[in-house]
Amino acid sequence: MRTPFALAAALAAAGTLALAHAGVEDPDVMARMHSMKEIAAANKAVGLMLRGEAPFDAAVVATSAKIIAAESARIPALFESRADDPKSEALPAIWENWVDFEAKAQAGVLAAEALGGVRREADLAPAFAAVGQTCKACHTAYRE
Ligand code: HEC
Repeated sequence: MRTPFALAAALAAAGTLALAHAGVEDPDVMARMHSMKEIAAANKAVGLMLRGEAPFDAAVVATSAKIIAAESARIPALFESRADDPKSEALPAIWENWVDFEAKAQAGVLAAEALGGVRREADLAPAFAAVGQTCKACHTAYRE
């Protein structure tokens, strides 16, 4: 398989960002932050296409969407432990509104799956925006 350049570059950037978490001590917090970085990197690979910084490539969109969907599906398991760390931005409201938190994670899965179905450049912007809405909805409620 040919390495999709935009995705490879974004994932490499995520690896660099992970180093910024050197001060995080709780392994569960580290794991969920790492998962969010993977999500953000895949999201960025698609964002580059919309900004004209990478060519539209349906295969990269599909691969990126698959990462976002798979990692989003893991969100409930990753947050279940109620782990905390001085560097965590997770709000206690997550565990007070667990059913809603899970629903917001599931909304992310569904939006990412829809993004993965995009085959034409014209369909990319709305599908990408829909994914972005699900990130924002959860972060607004549950992230500092
Ligand atoms: C169901 C809730 C939920 C969804 C959906 C979600 N996030 Fe997050 N995200 C969080 C929470 C909570 C944190 C804070 C975790 C912590 O600091 O312990 C976070 C943290 C992050 C971080 C910072 C990670 C770090 O290293 O500190 C990034 C980047 C991020 N999210 C990107 C995204 C993107 C991009 C999407 C959508 C494609 C997304 N998230 C979807 C809940 C969510």
